[in-house]
Amino acid sequence: MKPSYNVDVDVLRESPTRAVNRVVERLKREGKDVIMLSTGEPGIPPPLEVRLWLSEALKEDSMRLYSYTPSPGFLSLREAIVDDLKELGGVDVSVDQVVVATGGQATMFSTLATILSPGDEVILMDPTYFGYWNLLSYFKAEPKPIVASLDKGFQPGVEAIKESIVKGKTRAIIMVSPDNPTGRLLDFDVARSLAEIAVDYGLWIVYDEPYKTLIYEGEHVYMYNLAPENTISLNAFSKDPGIPGWRLGYIYGPAWVMKKIALASEAITYNPPSVAQHLVTVYLRNRELRRRHIEYAKRIYMERRDVMVEEVSKIEGAKYVKPGGAMFLMVDMKEVLEPLKVDCTLLAERLLREKLVALLPGEFFGKSTKTFIRLSFPTETPERIREGIRRLGELLEEMGKESLGKKESSLFEASL
Ligand SMILES: Cc1ncc(COP(=O)(O)O)c(C=O)c1O
Repeated sequence: MKPSYNVDVDVLRESPTRAVNRVVERLKREGKDVIMLSTGEPGIPPPLEVRLWLSEALKEDSMRLYSYTPSPGFLSLREAIVDDLKELGGVDVSVDQVVVATGGQATMFSTLATILSPGDEVILMDPTYFGYWNLLSYFKAEPKPIVASLDKGFQPGVEAIKESIVKGKTRAIIMVSPDNPTGRLLDFDVARSLAEIAVDYGLWIVYDEPYKTLIYEGEHVYMYNLAPENTISLNAFSKDPGIPGWRLGYIYGPAWVMKKIALASEAITYNPPSVAQHLVTVYLRNRELRRRHIEYAKRIYMERRDVMVEEVSKIEGAKYVKPGGAMFLMVDMKEVLEPLKVDCTLLAERLLREKLVALLPGEFFGKSTKTFIRLSFPTETPERIREGIRRLGELLEEMGKESLGKKESSLFEASL
């Protein structure tokens, strides 16, 4: 007899970047070189000094790098995070308010596992980071999307948020800043209004800020400073210093709820990876090195962003706002694609197969962005970004000539 399983996991969808990466892997094995404009993957490694520190530490004949660690992370790392937050944003937290976790995704999982009950309503932006749609379904919470439109610079509408609150049902507002997929920074006035709403209605603000140090214009708003009793802040070291494969992140918020999140985190992974904790502690404790690395990374990413914006601006009818932070350019292709009777998913699929350029269709981020594509700029060099967008233009031209009928897409399964 075949054993059964919990059908609740059927709501989970594969991340679109994973779907793309599977095809890219196959293409690479065939010897093909794919231009990667699809992933939020840093294009530069952590500073050489910390890598050298690690290579020395690896020579030690001890268990230091390999042992279990405290579930919420090494105390020395949590202290370094406390000091880092103070210096970056004037955030005043103590070590018992910080839980280190196994990457940004794990911060989302253990936080939502802690604060949500089935049937809770959760306000989030449309578009937003695709992982949230998945997790809300998994926790049987009801997503209440609020459209953050391109013509408003993707800023959330405070009135719309207020109107969608149902007393006793709405549990949280999820906000990402700097945003994935749009790169917008939350306006300070909007953040202040959200903080007031959260306090007035007794809601959590789950504030996802893994790109907080990657800001090209403007300033990052530290939501915790505005609503310290209502904010749970999620962070990752995947983008800065750039160790996405090593899986490290952290959460901070009111001490009483962090105690519970720590238990959820312990139940999932027991402890975050020790070697990544050691490396990040060295990075955060070396303040000058940290400052230099952020400046260096920002300079490189900003140049890549500017090249991407310049190239995309040559596509007639493509609409976008220049992202102030993070790693992405969200482009509305409606005017370009409608006359071709092509959707973004088909465009992404053909671009990958025929032109060897990977990007993501906007439908994975929300219903309002079905006519969008998301382009990431940190991974590739400026020359390859130029080439990637040139190939996109070339494909659009070919599609114009073909006047294609509709064709079913098989690479991506719609996530929403
Ligand atoms: C907004 C946002 N939250 C969470 C994550 C997940 O972070 P991690 O890659 O560390 O799991 C990402 C990753 O891209 C992200 O963009």
